[in-house]
Amino acid sequence: MYPTHRPRRLRRNAAVRSLVRETHLQNEQLIYPVFISEGSERQTPVESMPGIYQFSIDGAIGECSVLYEKGIRNFLIFGLPQQKDENASSAYDDRGIVQRALRTMRKELPDSILFTDVCLCPYTDHGHCGIVKDGIIANDESVELLARTALSHARAGADFVAPSDMMDGRVGAIRSILDENGLSDIGILSYSAKYSSAFYGPFREAAHSAPQFGDRKTHQMDPANRLEALKEMESDIQEGADIIMVKPALSYLDIIREAKDRFILPIAAYNVSGEYSMVKAAAMKGWVNERAIRDEILLSIRRAGADMIITYFAKDLALES
Ligand code: PBG
Repeated sequence: MYPTHRPRRLRRNAAVRSLVRETHLQNEQLIYPVFISEGSERQTPVESMPGIYQFSIDGAIGECSVLYEKGIRNFLIFGLPQQKDENASSAYDDRGIVQRALRTMRKELPDSILFTDVCLCPYTDHGHCGIVKDGIIANDESVELLARTALSHARAGADFVAPSDMMDGRVGAIRSILDENGLSDIGILSYSAKYSSAFYGPFREAAHSAPQFGDRKTHQMDPANRLEALKEMESDIQEGADIIMVKPALSYLDIIREAKDRFILPIAAYNVSGEYSMVKAAAMKGWVNERAIRDEILLSIRRAGADMIITYFAKDLALES
């Protein structure tokens, strides 16, 4: 080894360092989440997520067009419906907020890739991800409605539907309903290993989707578990997922790495709301260098094995590029 080998030779200057750099972060690998609400010309800031807004459909088009020009071409759409009820009926309404947004975005940004979050929590009056029966989230009834929701998104112009509910069997049910309806080209990005996480806190303000009672621990995974994540990912692949996701990202880099080593399909990671807000808050206090810490975090998620990252930071990165 030393003195024959001197690793510092490869760190000598910026040019050499960039020659041997193993991981890169590119705009093409980022997916930007967009929150869409009713109305027109509306842009409501999400207090806990500086820089993030709930947009009316026209506002979302404006925002996404700017990012599109800067090379962010992948969007994950979340809807904030006007009506919530126990059956989440506006989730699978062909005139629902997401469905209308999709039709407009498909037309205005034809070459963008549109992903939609498929879950019932923003649409149920109790805020749970499924239908509640006798105080319990009923799996199979919920899956039926999730599949209907995915179908209506696909019909309205989604390229990929992204089930985030963590019900059992939903990927298979969605694959079947899409295929039966002549939509076999529409893909599924599954939130496969989704943990029950405190890092979703700010999102629930953004999407008005906090559960009114109880929590999500009967469907989202226990942060202590690793084998369970592998099992979830494997079963989603068997059921027909095209891309699998690990969420959150930062506290679960080990799971991302294992997924990458084990499975032969693209891996997505969701750099979630709490991960974003913590950086923004510390930066606003002047306690960290925002750009440097953001880039280090996103690079670490790529290095762990994520092929693509869903991140609220996509906007800042785009505007800087
Ligand atoms: C819907 C959903 C959630 C997130 C994405 N889809 C919230 C949750 O499960 O409670 C979280 C995203 C984020 O925190 O940025 N089920």
